[in-house]
Amino acid sequence: MKPLRIAVAKGRLEEETQALLEKMGMDCSAAKDKGRKLILPLDGGRLDLVLAKSQDIITYVEHGVCDMGIVGKDTIMESAQSLYEVMDLGFGRCRMILAAGVGKDFYQGFGAKTVASKYPNIARGFFESKAMDVNIVKIEGSVELAPLLELADGIVDIVETGGTLRANGLEEKEHIAHLSARLVVNVAGMKLRKEEIDGFIHRLRPLVTVEKGGA
Ligand code: PRP
Repeated sequence: MKPLRIAVAKGRLEEETQALLEKMGMDCSAAKDKGRKLILPLDGGRLDLVLAKSQDIITYVEHGVCDMGIVGKDTIMESAQSLYEVMDLGFGRCRMILAAGVGKDFYQGFGAKTVASKYPNIARGFFESKAMDVNIVKIEGSVELAPLLELADGIVDIVETGGTLRANGLEEKEHIAHLSARLVVNVAGMKLRKEEIDGFIHRLRPLVTVEKGGA
């Protein structure tokens, strides 16, 4: 039978995902010695681990070429359209926030603000919910630079330790969402490979601890 395919975001979530799969009793030796390989056969060939960029995981799962994915809630909020988000995995905990210069009142004044973000859709949604007219500028990385370079009045971004904000003279002004790694499943796959996917979720669920509250 075709192995189940699970796509995992390279980087921050990769290690914790592997630890979780090992706790499920899966042989993950292929992941330990992966070199530059992007598809790793685990669990005696029953599960393929696909290493991809977060945004691409959504694409692969929505198109059904991966049955499942492990990806941050931020990526789901920003780009997912049609997949099932079935479980909070409890790791990769962080927060989406609005930040601006220390001591600055982001909301002061009447002119439209400019906000930089790697997450333009989340940022747009946040300000629409406040009926605020804001210019959103998409930045690909180290978004903290945008207010320092005076391109933006504030940023909508992820905070984990707060170290990057502190080091760059910025502070949290508003909390937008709690984030963590989520298990997502392809909509058709949930029916067509129901037994295998249910089996996977059933093995996973008792190993997951989800704390209440913020990161
Ligand atoms: C994220 C985020 C912040 C930083 C926050 O960036 O965009 O820049 O982490 O973490 P901290 O609160 O622990 O300092 P990431 O490291 O993913 O890299 P990027 O900016 O290049 O996307």
